[in-house]
Amino acid sequence: MNKQLETWVKEVAAMTQPDAVVWCDGSPAEYDRMLHLMEQSGTAIRLNEAKRPHSIYVRSDPADVARVEEFTFICSKSKDDAGPTNNWKDPEETKALLTPLFTGSMKGRTMYVIPYSMGPIGSPIAKIGVELSDSPYVVASMHVMARVGTKVLEALGDGEFVRGLHSVGAPLESPTQQDSPWPCNAKTKYICHFPETREIWSYGSGYGGNALLGKKCHALRIASVQARDEGWLAEHMLILGITNPKGEKIYVAAAFPSACGKTNLAMLQPTIPGWKVETVGDDIAWMKFGPDGRLYAINPEAGFFGVAPGTSDKSNFNAMKSIEKNAIFTNCGLTPDKDIWWEEMSDTPPAELTDWLRRPWTPASGRKASHPNARFCVPASQCPVISSEWQNPAGVPISAILFGGRRATVMPLVNEALSWQHGTFLGSIMSSETTAAAAGAVGALRFDPFAMLPFCGYHMGDYFGHWLKVGAKADGAKLPRIFYVNWFRKSAEGKFLWPGYGENSRVLKWVFERVTGTATAVDTPIGRLPAPGALDTNGLKVDAAAMEELTKVDVDGWTAQLAEFKKHYEKFGDKLPQGLKDELASLEKRLQGAGAKV
Ligand code: GTP
Ligand code: SPV
Ligand code: MN
Repeated sequence: MNKQLETWVKEVAAMTQPDAVVWCDGSPAEYDRMLHLMEQSGTAIRLNEAKRPHSIYVRSDPADVARVEEFTFICSKSKDDAGPTNNWKDPEETKALLTPLFTGSMKGRTMYVIPYSMGPIGSPIAKIGVELSDSPYVVASMHVMARVGTKVLEALGDGEFVRGLHSVGAPLESPTQQDSPWPCNAKTKYICHFPETREIWSYGSGYGGNALLGKKCHALRIASVQARDEGWLAEHMLILGITNPKGEKIYVAAAFPSACGKTNLAMLQPTIPGWKVETVGDDIAWMKFGPDGRLYAINPEAGFFGVAPGTSDKSNFNAMKSIEKNAIFTNCGLTPDKDIWWEEMSDTPPAELTDWLRRPWTPASGRKASHPNARFCVPASQCPVISSEWQNPAGVPISAILFGGRRATVMPLVNEALSWQHGTFLGSIMSSETTAAAAGAVGALRFDPFAMLPFCGYHMGDYFGHWLKVGAKADGAKLPRIFYVNWFRKSAEGKFLWPGYGENSRVLKWVFERVTGTATAVDTPIGRLPAPGALDTNGLKVDAAAMEELTKVDVDGWTAQLAEFKKHYEKFGDKLPQGLKDELASLEKRLQGAGAKV
């Protein structure tokens, strides 16, 4: 037994005062016990065994439906280390503030000790954490999303681990007190990270990234700091393998902000004949250089916690197949025969159902049956196109990295960076419209560098510098090529110009052929765009005017953005690396050369 772990568990139990402490073994029987507990307490409804075997349906409290960025804090010793894009709190003051909240917070509940490995157990890239939680929903979800239990404790030995303390913040004061079907603290939530001591304290929420601490809190916020210190990359990226008709294969990683298409791209069914896509991961990538000098990525997760609404046989067939069994669904609609439904799952909605707010619903209700951030949670192994390499402890070699977000204007369908430094620049000026994955306004355009705005555990200017350093240290010829993509361009009428989903395979094909040296590009002021005819549009139903709009350089639009980029960069002060200042100046010059009035 790990002595530090034992001591910590005792200390936390003394503070939170649970009725019992249970060490999770990670067994299927334990998973089933959690499902039963959730059924008994009214948290979950067992779905129709014939239609959706071994699956449950959960509705959260309406006050607990998404990540809460406003209440997410980086508690580094120095405020400057959290940087201008994070909420900061002093670590000692934060613990003093949260200790009274955690004191007695698990009364009437069980505290589960969940040892987990992010990444295949024993992989040189994997890391171990332990989450202490009073939520059976968290235990069950962690079973799906990470490797958990006794085998992790064995791998840990007396080694170091990330400490994650989680409480829904809803103690049961007496044995007769009726529990809520979704215990949480509707008023008070704190998602706090202590990067120096590798600790997480999460209070008041039971949902998603707030509560499944292996995911965003550990695998991105804490891991980004570890990656900075140790010379690797922890990123909000999917990983996929793509094979051409000749059987040649490359791996691609892609960073898009929350609810901007990672799961969809990771599982895509190519519309171009003879091409194949396989999934390695859909949300997070940890990347390290291998002995051959190439960058290798692992998916630290073991499951998908994917956006449900909009998922259909048409938009994401492989996700629909993945969720046929052994699934946890949260905040979608429930049909009378105890199956799930959400917007766009089928062309014809069910005649009636119960919505995520437990109200009767019909298609005439004039409101959505599912919450826009309703999610499915399933083992990655159930994906029909899961890559045979997805658990390879060495990872997969990455040949290309894509950046992208929701941009109705300006950003073209695809643009190849001129160099690693230019690619880092493109990542740093990424912007995207906000989505329902986080509480707050939807559709507001904001800078979201590298899709890491809510997830970088330290100063974003230093993070940019880390990317440049990683590139400078590597053999340039072996570095992945960087591309900026945009599936979300809209017409003046507000319609998407690009059909997206499976048709994105056309862009992946161009990326593949740029990497292998067979596709042509033209140099433009913003980067390299597909040469005329280089993008495969065979059989594509997009009219010529839309195609022109998608693949041209909007010199005026980019020029107008320069002022925004400069303002964005000012935030980082003297932490903004010189290399990025140089890139911005070069971009400005190239745009001037293209005839823009700057
Ligand atoms: P997180 O799990 O929050 O990190 O999100 P994600 O990046 O995995 O997003 P996901 O693939 O689940 O996509 C979210 C939503 O984006 C989908 O439900 C679709 O509505 C939309 N979407 C995904 N891909 C495309 C695309 O190619 N075109 C268009 N127009 N919409 C897309
Ligand atoms: C995201 O918001 O990017 C997610 C969902 O992947 S959550 O796990 O809630 O962070
Ligand atoms: Mn995500």
